[in-house]
Amino acid sequence: MTSDSRTQKRIVTVFGGTGFLGRRIVTRLLEKGFTVRAASRHPDRLAALFSSDARSPEAVRADILDASSAASAIAGSHVVVNAVSLYVERGNLTFERVHVKAAADLAAASRKSRVEQFIQISGIGSDSRSESSYIRARGRGEDAVASAFPGAVIARPSVMTGPDDAFLTILVRLIRLLPVYPLFGDGGTRLQPVYVGDVAEAVSHLIDGNDHGDSSIFEFGGLQIYTYEELLREIARQLDIRIRLIPMPFAVWTALARVAEFLPAAPLTRNQIDLMRHDNVAAADLPGLKELGIEPHDISEVIRAIEEANRSGI
Ligand SMILES: NC(=O)c1ccc[n+]([C@@H]2O[C@H](COP(=O)([O-])OP(=O)(O)OC[C@H]3O[C@@H](n4cnc5c(N)ncnc54)[C@H](OP(=O)(O)O)[C@@H]3O)[C@@H](O)[C@H]2O)c1
Repeated sequence: MTSDSRTQKRIVTVFGGTGFLGRRIVTRLLEKGFTVRAASRHPDRLAALFSSDARSPEAVRADILDASSAASAIAGSHVVVNAVSLYVERGNLTFERVHVKAAADLAAASRKSRVEQFIQISGIGSDSRSESSYIRARGRGEDAVASAFPGAVIARPSVMTGPDDAFLTILVRLIRLLPVYPLFGDGGTRLQPVYVGDVAEAVSHLIDGNDHGDSSIFEFGGLQIYTYEELLREIARQLDIRIRLIPMPFAVWTALARVAEFLPAAPLTRNQIDLMRHDNVAAADLPGLKELGIEPHDISEVIRAIEEANRSGI
């Protein structure tokens, strides 16, 4: 069998395959010749997402909170990727339920179904001892997945950017709009924004290559590390806008986020504020993009793409 036909026979199921990161993982794997299942609660959205692509994924309706639909989606898969998110808790839909219990159940079901590789998308800063319920659940989720599926790969991106992101796009719009821009605290938190396409590429390398040795935790950060203040100044510089920054205490941001979370597509969430309290930079002692041979995109390219998308009203 040629390596191409071996790849085509490998079925990769991406839970969260309609999401910001998940759909890029799906696209990259299809380009590499894998057979891909994109699983989500709304597979009908897939047709529009992949209409311009040469190949389409198999659309599967699955809810990771429902064991039987998850098991059907997993059946026959060689690789399972969990790229499901939950940023705001609503009723029974808690961080603990989605990021810990459902992630562990998915890993256990994958093991039972003889899946060869399980990749859990988590985030830099995940910490099972954190005071933040979100960051704690991400850390506990990693531990639970690793117990349920020994050898599982944990992929932790920093904040991800791209033309349809929920971070840089909003910063670009607000910096154009506001005469004075508020900082998170004193703006000193260090960030390493990473292009979402680079993370998708990295996940595809984890699946198709043997170049990751025995490592099970990867951290994906972008080309540059900025303090939040430096990042805002860099965006303003590229937009050719004079920016005035003022410090704003985290407690005020948390209060604002508490209100914003009532909006259907919350523009600000408490978990974002919690993440902004601590540096979000890839650890020097963990493998990342460089070890997978990936040259990260410069943020200026992403800002240009966001501006382009804003201009064409996408
Ligand atoms: N975005 C970032 O900057 C960032 C940074 C670091 C880490 N991460 C992590 O990366 C992962 C992906 O994030 P994202 O921003 O790409 O998320 P996203 O755009 O919000 O997409 C989430 C995906 O999960 C699916 N989903 C949600 N609940 C589900 C459920 N119960 N069962 C099955 N599918 C479900 C959604 O589809 P349906 O609604 O159709 O089900 C969607 O496809 C998450 O683990 C996130 O924490 C993200």
